[in-house]
Amino acid sequence: MADNKIFIFDTTLRDGEQVPGCKLNSNEKVELALQLETLGVDIIEAGFPVSSPGDFASVNEISKVIKNATVCGLTRAVQKDIEVAAEALKYAQRPRIHTGIGTSDLHIKAKFNATQEEILQRAVQAVKWAKNFVDDVEFYAEDAGRTDNEYLARVIEAVIKAGATTVNIPDTTGYCLPHQYGEKIAYLANNVPNIDKAIISCHCHNDLGLATANSIAGIINGARQIECTINGLGERAGNTSLEEVAMIIQSHKTLGFYTNIDSKQLNPLSRTVSDVMRMPVQPNKAIVGSNAFSHSSGIHQDGFLKDALTYEIINPEEVGADSSKIVLTARSGRSALAFRFQKLGFQFTRNDVDALYNEFVKVADSKKEVSDEDLEIMAKTYATQVA
Ligand code: KIV
Ligand code: ZN
Repeated sequence: MADNKIFIFDTTLRDGEQVPGCKLNSNEKVELALQLETLGVDIIEAGFPVSSPGDFASVNEISKVIKNATVCGLTRAVQKDIEVAAEALKYAQRPRIHTGIGTSDLHIKAKFNATQEEILQRAVQAVKWAKNFVDDVEFYAEDAGRTDNEYLARVIEAVIKAGATTVNIPDTTGYCLPHQYGEKIAYLANNVPNIDKAIISCHCHNDLGLATANSIAGIINGARQIECTINGLGERAGNTSLEEVAMIIQSHKTLGFYTNIDSKQLNPLSRTVSDVMRMPVQPNKAIVGSNAFSHSSGIHQDGFLKDALTYEIINPEEVGADSSKIVLTARSGRSALAFRFQKLGFQFTRNDVDALYNEFVKVADSKKEVSDEDLEIMAKTYATQVA
């Protein structure tokens, strides 16, 4: 694979918005789509147009305002879905129809009561139908993570022949281990004769906390598109998190990949998405959690204050986060205490800090975090004692 650009396909407005409580109205979706475009995503999955008039309207409005990114609408492998998506996308500068069907034995039997051959035919028909409306057709093989590789390769070959230009290999249930998902992508890259005519895409769910690892295994093995969401939002335990993928690729230059993402926008956009969707970000979330650049243990604080690189692999500025924080808790040490007193304008000697430290630990044991106000009280009390 010559080009090492990784296309970022954002599905915050589709898979992300499926999360209970995260429903957005059309204006909110348009506003977020514009911000996603400014962030540098290549494809915006704007919704599932046939699912509701509201979603149709959102995809339609987004199509009107997005100028550079591809705007994508999801469908089932159903003629009516595809026609509705095409209509919703009619103003898009770069429209994409994302159609597909379940390919695992479980989906074929339980959902469709069909045979592998029937599903393969439905997949091909859906792609052919979508090609009547747009050039850019992406096919998803739902539950590809649990689909037999040999059958999956046959489906992928057939849909590429029918005109699919991107082939999405979802680990819909988040079941695969990274080496298994990577091997699946490698199998397709090596065994689908016409694979050079399409881009392989990773769409990984996070049920076992492996979505990001699986997506990275996917690109290492030949995929060139990652489907992801801001804050990792998505069905159940969520999707691959956009900010994690972008920063893995940016930090690990030896992988040799690049994206168009402007990493400085990651934290501001994470906060916007969290606010609009009313979905808090867990404090320990990589890149965008409130603790992602906080240091609270004495050993870490001491190292960090000597050289930030000892405990930080990313400069918070690089991802638009507030500067690193030294949080004072009962696990903090003298270096951090001296640093914070200095920040507050108190010039204490090493002996002063030693004396104050005993008082600090008592306060810290009775609270989760020692605040600047607590420190000021301690400092002033100490000053009167030694005066
Ligand atoms: O998880 C999944 O398989 C999906 C498809 C609809 C792409 O979201
Ligand atoms: Zn999904």
